Amino acid sequence: TAEVKIAILGRAGVGKSALVVRFLTKRFIWEYDPTLESTYRHQATIDDDLVTMELLDTAGQEDTIQREGHVRWADGFAIVYDITDKGSFDEVLPFKNLLDEIKKPKNVTFILVGNKADLDHCRQVSTEEGEKLATELACAFYECSACTGEGNISEAFYELCREVRRR
Ligand code: GTP
Ligand code: MG
Repeated sequence: TAEVKIAILGRAGVGKSALVVRFLTKRFIWEYDPTLESTYRHQATIDDDLVTMELLDTAGQEDTIQREGHVRWADGFAIVYDITDKGSFDEVLPFKNLLDEIKKPKNVTFILVGNKADLDHCRQVSTEEGEKLATELACAFYECSACTGEGNISEAFYELCREVRRR
C-alpha cells in the first residue's frame, strides 16, 4: 500500500494535536498538553486506494534543527493557525517559506487549516482572509474546529494525501 508522510505545523496552541486526535478518534481533548512530537499511523481508503498515513504531530515550540528534520521527512504538510489568534495567522507565511527553502527545488504540497471555528465570538481572522491567503499560496483551505468537528477535518487530511500522491 501507498505511504504518505504528513507533518502538522503551526504555532504552539493552535490545536495541532487536537486536530490529529479528532481525525483519528472523532473525539476532543480539553487539556492543554504542549506535547513533544508524536507520530501516528493511520490506514484509510481514499478513492478506492488503501493508503497508510504517517502523521507527525509537531510541537509548536520545537527548535529550528528539529523542525528542519521534520520538514525533510514529510511529503506533505498541514499548516494550521487559530482563527482567534492573528499572530498564528501571521506565522503561516514564514512556515511556508521555510518549507520552500528546505524542499527546493521541489514544489511543496500543503494545505492551510484555520482551526477553532467554534470560537466565532473571539475571531481575529476572517474566513475571507484565510481564503485570500490560500489563493495566494495556491493551496486548499479548510476552516474547522477540532472541538465540534465542524469543517470536515478528515476531508482535509484526505485531500492532502491525494495531492501528495498526484505528484
Ligand atoms: P503545541 O503542541 O504546544 O504546539 O500545541 P497544539 O497546536 O498541539 O495545540 P493543542 O491541540 O494542544 O490545543 C491547544 C488548546 O486549544 C487546548 O486547550 C485545546 O483544548 C484547545 N483547542 C484545540 N482545538 C480547539 C478548537 O477547535 N476549539 C476550541 N475551542 N479549542 C481548541
Ligand atoms: Mg500539540
